[in-house]
Amino acid sequence: MIEARGVTKVFGLSDQKAAQRLADGAAGREALAADGGVLAVDDVSFTVETGELFVIMGLSGSGKSTLIRMVNRLIEPTSGTVLIDGDDVGKMSDKALRSLRNMRVNMVFQHFALFPHRSIRDNVAYGLKTRGEASRKRVEKANRALEQVGLGHRGDAFPDELSGGQQQRVGLARALATDADVLLMDEPFSALDPLIRRDMQNLLLALQGEFRKTILFVTHDLNEAMRIGDRIMVMKDGRSVQMGTGPEILADPATDYVREFVADVDRTRVITAATIMREPLVVATADESPRQALKKLEGVEASGLYVLDADQHVLGVAKDEALARAAGSGKDLKSVLVDDYESVTEDTPMVQFAHLSGNHPVPLGVLDAEGRLQGVVPRAAILAAISGDNGTEAGETSTEGGEKVTENA
Ligand SMILES: Nc1ncnc2c1ncn2[C@@H]1O[C@H](COP(=O)(O)OP(=O)(O)OP(=O)(O)O)[C@@H](O)[C@H]1O
Ligand SMILES: [Mg+2]
Repeated sequence: MIEARGVTKVFGLSDQKAAQRLADGAAGREALAADGGVLAVDDVSFTVETGELFVIMGLSGSGKSTLIRMVNRLIEPTSGTVLIDGDDVGKMSDKALRSLRNMRVNMVFQHFALFPHRSIRDNVAYGLKTRGEASRKRVEKANRALEQVGLGHRGDAFPDELSGGQQQRVGLARALATDADVLLMDEPFSALDPLIRRDMQNLLLALQGEFRKTILFVTHDLNEAMRIGDRIMVMKDGRSVQMGTGPEILADPATDYVREFVADVDRTRVITAATIMREPLVVATADESPRQALKKLEGVEASGLYVLDADQHVLGVAKDEALARAAGSGKDLKSVLVDDYESVTEDTPMVQFAHLSGNHPVPLGVLDAEGRLQGVVPRAAILAAISGDNGTEAGETSTEGGEKVTENA
């Protein structure tokens, strides 16, 4: 829905001069600063899918506002292309651009400015007026949006009769009630108290569940980014340094800069089983003999393994001692199976399973809805994720909780 390709902004120099410097790589970028230019956004590319909530996160001065304003051309890029729904924004006439901003792309700023002399209902309906909707229809839509933000009974009130947080809700209702498919939101919640801010994040998520807008959301707060973003792009000094889902970024920060950022995040709520699960080192299938299974176990120095059917469903766990006994007495693998394991689904957050690990002969199993094994979470993977280390050094061995696990490199 939104596609940015190599978007760059240099303030303070002519486009021609800027282009010359940029063509000169790192040396050119240094010279550019000496010329009095500011490289606010440097060669940034990203794609936001329809219905996605994409967050641009970075410290003050990293170029977030400049970037988001280039999407609807409030700021003219020095170079690069922005496409909205396939249309090149840079090639639009003034008229086409006005219509884009009125109808298709709604911008929300840090302080939602409400019209003080209009009722709350009229404030919400205003966004619809600009596209020429019939008045009865507008009022209906405005009432519905106000209902959704819990202010259905305050439509006749005026802005100064509402608290700051309530006014903010009106602003959000107004943004979401417009028929624009794309919302550009530049730090809309930054001025709010932490608790109200959390309310607004929840409200945004709830409304987004219903309206499914395509949202580009700027914040300098990684916790906010993690809570609301489907995907996050981290910016530093005008460049994109990492892009991914919250759990992906937490589990594997691309640079020391991102690593420092994520140090403050409550990892156990964001990281899911899917993010840190690994291939099991060994599994057996039900048609194998206890002797074959035992052999596999010896190879990895583990004390038990999962036994699966042909479709990867977990039938149970076979322990080394039971396997040794069965191998001597000619019994089959099914006869030794026990339920000595714990399992979670892929989307289970770590906070719900960190304590489950380590008390069984096999690592925590990650199963899909049909009970098929998708992967395992060894205790070492949990410890590594908590400490922020991606924990995949080759040959690292852990024997914690009686579970001998050789890490996969
Ligand atoms: N009109 C301008 N003229 C010159 N420099 C500018 C202009 N606008 C922004 N800059 C510079 O570009 C860089 C990026 O600014 P920008 O406002 O995009 O950052 P930001 O990430 O939105 O920061 P914040 O979190 O403080 O809002 C900064 O160094 C800023 O000083
Ligand atoms: Mg800004």
